Amino acid sequence: MCGIVGYVGKRRAAPLLYAGLKKLEYRGYDSAGIATLSSDMVWVKKVTGHVAGLRGAASLEGTCGIGHTRWATHGAPTEANAHPHVYGRFAIVHNGIIENFRSLRRMCEARGEEFSSETDSEVVAHLLERLYRGDLLDALRRTCSVLKGSYALAVICRDAPGAIALAREKSPLVIGRGKLGHFLASDIPALAPACGEICPLSDGEFALLTGEGVRLFTGEREIAPRWVPLARGEKETGKEGHAHYMEKEIAEIPAVLQRSRGGLGEGEAFSRVREAVIRADRIHIVACGTAYHAGLAAKYAIERLTRIPAEVTVASEYRYLDPILTDKTVLLAVSQSGETADTIAAARHAKERGARVVAIVNEIRSTLAALADERLPIGAGTEIAVAATKSYVAQLAVLYSLAASVAEAQGRRGYGDALAELPDLARETVRAGKAVAGWAAHFAAARSAYFIGRGADSVTALEGSLKLKEISYLPSEGYPAGELKHGTLALIEENTPVVAVLTSEELAEKTMNAVHEARARGAKVFLVTSLPAYADERGLTGSAVIPRCADVYSPALAVIPLQQLAYFVSLARGCDPDRPRNLAKSVTVE
Ligand code: G6P
Repeated sequence: MCGIVGYVGKRRAAPLLYAGLKKLEYRGYDSAGIATLSSDMVWVKKVTGHVAGLRGAASLEGTCGIGHTRWATHGAPTEANAHPHVYGRFAIVHNGIIENFRSLRRMCEARGEEFSSETDSEVVAHLLERLYRGDLLDALRRTCSVLKGSYALAVICRDAPGAIALAREKSPLVIGRGKLGHFLASDIPALAPACGEICPLSDGEFALLTGEGVRLFTGEREIAPRWVPLARGEKETGKEGHAHYMEKEIAEIPAVLQRSRGGLGEGEAFSRVREAVIRADRIHIVACGTAYHAGLAAKYAIERLTRIPAEVTVASEYRYLDPILTDKTVLLAVSQSGETADTIAAARHAKERGARVVAIVNEIRSTLAALADERLPIGAGTEIAVAATKSYVAQLAVLYSLAASVAEAQGRRGYGDALAELPDLARETVRAGKAVAGWAAHFAAARSAYFIGRGADSVTALEGSLKLKEISYLPSEGYPAGELKHGTLALIEENTPVVAVLTSEELAEKTMNAVHEARARGAKVFLVTSLPAYADERGLTGSAVIPRCADVYSPALAVIPLQQLAYFVSLARGCDPDRPRNLAKSVTVE
């Protein structure tokens, strides 16, 4: 989604803004721009398409500026709609949505002001100009007092050279300081490696950045900035010899599991969550996209291991279900970024109704983490590729640890030991999964693809299908194998690729029935299995044998070859696996 950067200091701002925007590219965007202040003028350059189009703008003068990558919501991805928006003496960049922009815009237009974009954001620049009384921060406060919705705003003003004003409401914004001066960004990776310390803003806060210092305010009250060091892991964002971030992040899965093995099950927060789950009348899990699939896989583990009822809901639908919540309900909000607007809204809904909210997040300084009663970090390290891979497996590791730990407390032993084997098994799986590279040509030429499985394998089928469609743009569906003949079978024709996931002895014969039904209609069937006996079944076009683990944990391994398959198909179809069209890494609007 949209990204914000800013800089004020002694260096020329434009090259630093450009470098910051390059770091934000992974979030997904369709246009970009920067504005700098020099000689009492605002200089602006905007482009559609890639940030690289702004390379020439690195020559813009000025030691103070703001930059933006835009993911279109209101108005097409055009230069006019790209940020920064300039009106009068102000230039602004905005993340979020100004919900009352229509009425505000009508009010401005009635006064004869002309708008140059279709965005909700431009109205902010108009209001600033109207409410300006000679003080930049005061103008921003007055402007924010009439805005409804969510915003991270960075503002520069011709009359205040060398200053950037910031405001945050339900959209992340972080200040950074380093040797070169003061920086700001909507997310932390853009601040590395220039900053040694960061200060994330909270809702309702304002800040004024100059080359000399940072002033932070809650509303009108000045408070001390909360500087924290930028952790080392947050700075490591290179591809380290891999062709793409996605490839690198899949390769990191065993190490991520290894790291978390030491930490999980320990720590006070984990113990408190375990106790809350033991006492819970039910568990609710909310999440979006891949994190939702982690929730679905966790339901199998939680219910089977602990016998505590667990319901999983797509976060954007949660509120409309009018969910039944008590003070004994534990809500697990699963989110890599911790900034997904729908997941935050669902968590807030549950919290307001008395549930205990646990954030299972990769970004521990995120909005969701701040809102929750408890936080369990998944420790996946920075994930750059838009399509989640290592964070999915890391989410599963935390959720499985929780289920295993509750089960042990209830007297069901052995599940923790089975979990401890996962890092080594994942290492073998990443190796074995490379076999799927040879399958890619069959998918590249297809019109659609299908993924099937039973039990926990049906969740892996859903996630494998999501990965494929996200990064290769091949229409794809994931199905419980038993449902195939209730509709999807009608779509199978000669050479349609079907991937069957099979990791449970108990369910094997039934899944193989579906394989044969698809084969009989001309499908090319590929099998991902931990049961070697089925890998040589006649009629299969390909098979990948992965190591065996406890059935209930199998999604953590079986997903790996499917992530690899999506990667290879993406390449075979000439797509960019790291930056799929139209998608964003973190979806900060509802
Ligand atoms: C976007 C991303 C997905 C991700 C989903 C949820 O759609 O492209 O990869 O699974 O958001 O994100 P979260 O940060 O909440 O896990």
